[in-house]
Formats: sequence, C-alpha cells, structure tokens
Amino acid sequence: AATLAAAAQQSGRYFGTAVAANKLGDSTYVGILNREFDMVTAENEMKMDATEPNQGQFSFGSGDRIVNHARNQGKRVRGHALAWHSQQPGWMQNMSGSALRQAMLNHVTQVASYYRGKIYAWDVVNEAYADGTSGARRDSNLQRTGNDWIEAAFRAARAADPGAKLCYNDYNTDNWSHAKTQGVYRMVQDFKSRGVPIDCVGFQAHFNSGNPVPSNYHTTLQNFANLGVDVQITELDIEGSGSTQAQQYQGVVQACLAVSRCTGITVWGIRDSDSWRASGTPLLFDNYGNKKAAYTSVLNVLNSG
Ligand code: G3I
Repeated sequence: AATLAAAAQQSGRYFGTAVAANKLGDSTYVGILNREFDMVTAENEMKMDATEPNQGQFSFGSGDRIVNHARNQGKRVRGHALAWHSQQPGWMQNMSGSALRQAMLNHVTQVASYYRGKIYAWDVVNEAYADGTSGARRDSNLQRTGNDWIEAAFRAARAADPGAKLCYNDYNTDNWSHAKTQGVYRMVQDFKSRGVPIDCVGFQAHFNSGNPVPSNYHTTLQNFANLGVDVQITELDIEGSGSTQAQQYQGVVQACLAVSRCTGITVWGIRDSDSWRASGTPLLFDNYGNKKAAYTSVLNVLNSG
C-alpha cells in the first residue's frame, strides 16, 4: 500500500495524527492529512480548558472543526482528553474537594455526551502517574479529591458514551522495567478485576535521547494486552534524524504489529514544523511536507506486517 493508513489497514489497524484546528486552512498540511492518515486526535481543542472555558459553559467550535473534517474525510477520531491535571481552565485550577470532583465528573459527562457516537476511543484520564521511581499517583488537585477519581471518571464516561472505547493515557510508560509503567499496570489490573470500565491503554511514546525507544517495548505492550485491554501508541514522536530515527520508528511500529491487541498508532503532528517540540525534527514529514527516511521505514514495516 502507498499510504500509512492503507498500509496499516492491511492488518486491521489505523494510522493517525494529531491535528490543530488552526492549520486546517494550510493546503500542504491538509493534503498530507487527507492522504496519509485515517485516525485524528485534536492536539489541544478537546481538552478541558478548550471545551469548558467558564464553568458550565461549553465551547465545542474548534473541536467540531477537527471532528467534522475527519468524519467528512471518512476518518475516525480519538478523543483527547476528558480529565487531566494540566490544561485545566483557570476556574478549575484552584478548586478542591467535592466541588472539584463534581465539576470534573460533570465535565466528563458533558463532553463525552456531546461527542457521543463520534469517538472511537477517549483518553478519559491523562498522565495521572508520577515520574521517577515511586510508581505512585501524581499529586494534583484531582488526585487530592480521592484515589478513586480515576475510576469515577471512567464510569461517568461509560455512562455518557457507551460506544466509545475508554483509555488511560500516559507518557514514559513504554519501558517495562520503569516504576511508572508498573504503577499503571497495577491500576489497570485492579480495574479489570473490579469491573471498572476500561478498554484500552494509550502509550504516548514521546521519545528522545534521554527516553529512548526501549528494547522491551513489545513486552510492555503484550503484558498490558494480556490484562484484557487494547493498547494504542497515541502521541508518537522521536527526536533525531536520518537512519537512526528511521530505525527507531521502525522498532515502535514492529512492537505494535507484534501485539494483536495493539489497534493503531498515532503520531503527534504531521510536519516537523508542526511539532510541539520547539526545536528538533521528530516527525515523519519535513517542514515542506516531504517524506523523511522515517516515513519510508514506517511504511515499509507496515507493508511487511
Ligand atoms: O493558542 C495560544 C496562542 O493564542 C498564544 O499566543 C500562545 C502563547 O503561549 O499559546 C497558544 O497556546 C498554546 C497551545 O499549545 C497551542 O499552540 C499553549 O500555550 C501551549 O501550552 C500548548 O501546548 C500544547 C501542550 O500539549 C500543552 O500541554 C501542545 O500544543 C500539545 O502538543 C501538547 O500535547 C501534549 C498532550 O496533550 C499530552 N501529552 C503530551 C503532549 C506534548 O506535550
């Protein structure tokens, strides 16, 4: 197959990208988006600060532009993200206790209900685990409402959109030996054992020299899948260039293809110049929209799988 999406579809998977609403007028950007990808994630437009700028007043205009573009082009949508300690609207940042818990659950309910039927998978909770060696939850205003805030968010999301897959999404959870990976694994294991509604785990997969693609990535993805959830690579980018970068991309795609419940891969932007990383060249297309060596290696491994 000649495109990332068509190549991924050969094994029943998708290949997606993050999209920014304010780039939907850029013809180079949209041309690549429409041609290469069959799954779309809003890079910022469906987050808490964007969708509920004032408490109880919801704003879906920018998110709708992305969702409508995707659906008009026959693409599916990953929802990102219903509950997160970061990118909270100002009114929420200093809330606490039961008022915050109620506001968070109302947000989950309202946003998931609004997009009901249009979302393949929601990142219900994003980045709730701490970095470092504790394997514990991250301290945040949401965590301080009680350790059950995550399962409460999942239950609210299930009630609001029973057809969407519900994911927990995090970064630096790729290496099986890291404490953070183990912490998330134990939470998913616990949720499955108690019937908390969770369907998938998202691995953001932001890699750089300090956080390289682990050689045990396949092990991590398989161990999570063995808990009875789908796994997805949700925000892939890899710092570097040339054949080194191409090989690392190849390794990530191979790890996903080796796990039957790894249902798809999303890269976090289209051209290098679209990346959230201020400098660097972490994506599959250069600033002009030309395919990089990393693109070719990803396409080839998708076609061989
Ligand atoms: O749109 C405003 C603009 O009007 C203003 O002039 C400018 C000044 O700072 O800010 C612009 O907003 C920025 C927004 O991106 C759009 O470009 C925000 O400041 C900036 O914080 C925001 O960054 C986003 C970041 O999440 C925020 O946490 C990145 O685009 C986005 O790629 C990044 O994505 C996250 C995922 O959601 C979760 N995982 C990690 C990933 C990378 O950090």
